[in-house]
Amino acid sequence: MASSLPNPVQAPPHVHALLDKLHAQSVEQEKTATAAQLQAVGFDDFMRDKYIALDQDKSQFVYQLILSTGARNVVEAGTSFGVSTIYLALAVSQNITISGEKGLVTGTENEPSKAAQARLHWAEVGQGLEEIIELREGDLRETLNVDLPETVDLLLLDIWAPMALPTLKLVQPHFKPGSTVLIDNTIGAASGYKDLLTYLRAPGSGFTNLTLPYNKGLEMCVYVG
Ligand SMILES: C[S@@+](CC[C@H](N)C(=O)[O-])C[C@H]1O[C@@H](n2cnc3c(N)ncnc32)[C@H](O)[C@@H]1O
Repeated sequence: MASSLPNPVQAPPHVHALLDKLHAQSVEQEKTATAAQLQAVGFDDFMRDKYIALDQDKSQFVYQLILSTGARNVVEAGTSFGVSTIYLALAVSQNITISGEKGLVTGTENEPSKAAQARLHWAEVGQGLEEIIELREGDLRETLNVDLPETVDLLLLDIWAPMALPTLKLVQPHFKPGSTVLIDNTIGAASGYKDLLTYLRAPGSGFTNLTLPYNKGLEMCVYVG
């Protein structure tokens, strides 16, 4: 997706080429997928080979936000083929280098073939990414239930809508003031996210909320305690 707009991502040409290719494949899949195909095979089988990657402009925003906040511990629900994870890990990697402290991107994916492909993409990137990504395979309601970093700086909710609130509740005990939750598609899938958005926007929830005007919306919520 060639663009004259600035791209904040600092990475070698082969990484940009890979990201451009993966985003293009994801967009193409979404363009050609039909409701009839989904109905014919059922939701799980239909989604098994679908990227549904976070849009490229949103991914660049997340990258930029991680750099600006110095976030070092990031949780991603879900990971799919690992496209957004590349942005998370590149940015965390920079923050680790600058701060000299440790950091981790915790990914989650319950479809084994997607998890395997995600690992191949990260290997293709190189850049030490595999050392700072921990991919938890299986249902995130179980895999995120244990051993999260004491403080989680950023949670990316890019997951089937019914999973979003249970995920937030698992991760929230690890937030400190300033921890940020990003949720994709909160305009496009507002009805699916009703329980999550009601929880986040309730008076006294401990979160400030903003809907960023990206395509179909990107919610940015900051935990203020
Ligand atoms: C929208 S996609 C993630 C896209 C990814 N963030 C990216 O930008 O490349 C959502 C993923 O969540 C996975 N998923 C759905 N329910 C899950 C669950 N309960 N536990 C773990 N992963 C799940 C799906 O298999 C799917 O690959």
